[in-house]
Amino acid sequence: MAIQKVTILEFAPTADEIWSIPYHNRDGYAHYDTESGLLSIMDTAHDAKLRPEIITTYAGGKATNVARVLDQLLTDKDDLDVQLVTFLPPSEGRLRELKPGSVRGFALLPSTPAGIYVQCLQIAGLYRVKPRFEVVAELAESDEMQTTRRCIELTLQEGGGSVNFSPRIVWSQKAAEAVQARVAEIARGADLIVMAGAPPVWTVYSGADLTRYSFYAKIMEVLEPNCQVSIDARGEYLRKCLIARRSPRFVFMNTEEFTDLSELWSASGGRPFPGIFLVHNENGCWVWDGKLPDGADPLSEAEHFPSLPVSRVCSTIGAGDAMHAGFLKEWAKGERLHRAVIYSQVVSAVSVSNEKATHGITVRAVNDRFQQIWQNDRLI
Ligand SMILES: Nc1ncnc2c1ncn2[C@@H]1O[C@H](COP(=O)(O)OP(=O)(O)OP(=O)(O)O)[C@@H](O)[C@H]1O
Ligand SMILES: [Mg+2]
Repeated sequence: MAIQKVTILEFAPTADEIWSIPYHNRDGYAHYDTESGLLSIMDTAHDAKLRPEIITTYAGGKATNVARVLDQLLTDKDDLDVQLVTFLPPSEGRLRELKPGSVRGFALLPSTPAGIYVQCLQIAGLYRVKPRFEVVAELAESDEMQTTRRCIELTLQEGGGSVNFSPRIVWSQKAAEAVQARVAEIARGADLIVMAGAPPVWTVYSGADLTRYSFYAKIMEVLEPNCQVSIDARGEYLRKCLIARRSPRFVFMNTEEFTDLSELWSASGGRPFPGIFLVHNENGCWVWDGKLPDGADPLSEAEHFPSLPVSRVCSTIGAGDAMHAGFLKEWAKGERLHRAVIYSQVVSAVSVSNEKATHGITVRAVNDRFQQIWQNDRLI
């Protein structure tokens, strides 16, 4: 079935910030030991105050990354309708008096300060993908709940090294159920749902079958029969989707995530599966179409597409998300598998070879490289 309407679901909204700290004896001192990977920072009691430079701030989250790359790849010629749906907490206290706003026709909804911040960052960062916000009463923040977050990547100015602070999104059972019900409503009419990354965590009611592990599989259950799913998740989150009554159409994972599920592959017997698996690492992409990976050495049976050479690897962060977005864009154009795989590899190659990683992807660079490769392929 042709894909025209894509809905990307962001359950773990975040405002991402990249901070850079210098070595400085007076204004705060940091030491990095490359061997052990330990970063030491002097504490406030010793009169040290870190003065990081804020390099950049943007809307993060795995699904948001996929949406942003798709946004960078779409042009006037594409008639793909993509929306990014983000689930947010309701406003509290005086902010309840806020009225919904509108930017370029997109509703900006009253939420917590962090919820409003995330909305602003998403709206500012998306041009062709439509941001849509879903404020869910059950996501109200409390001592036990953390439904929005800021993630901070601390990098050292000299000598490399970085640490990443990524608070978990913490829901309640009720919140998870409310979000699942909301997805059933908003996914109506979508041809493809995209889910990526780890879902939030919560304390499960005893006997409840909606857990963080079954969350993606349960989301699939509430979708309309014709709605397809593309998923990039690891371990148990993914395993539950693969053994569910309903199957995802596209599955993305890196080879490490693939190895984590080796027992599943050994037991699968290569049985038919109504989807496409794309497994990747820096060396390339392995593809299965219509069957589950099988046996002790499953990669050997897949169709292999070597990675494209890159002159310089600057940052591999988000390279997998870039692949995911690239594949979906090209697949939607004509459901040609080889073309979509090669296109996805071009997008990830462009991503790893520029300093801004996924942020530095341009449709022009991708299309130029794809044109060269695809023509060469055709000539062989
Ligand atoms: N070091 C590298 N050199 C060349 N290409 C790379 C390199 N790292 C990644 N790539 C390209 O990006 C693709 C996806 O990378 P990778 O498998 O590392 O993603 P990932 O682990 O899912 O990353 P993330 O989850 O952070 O997005 C690879 O298949 C390859 O085409
Ligand atoms: Mg990945």
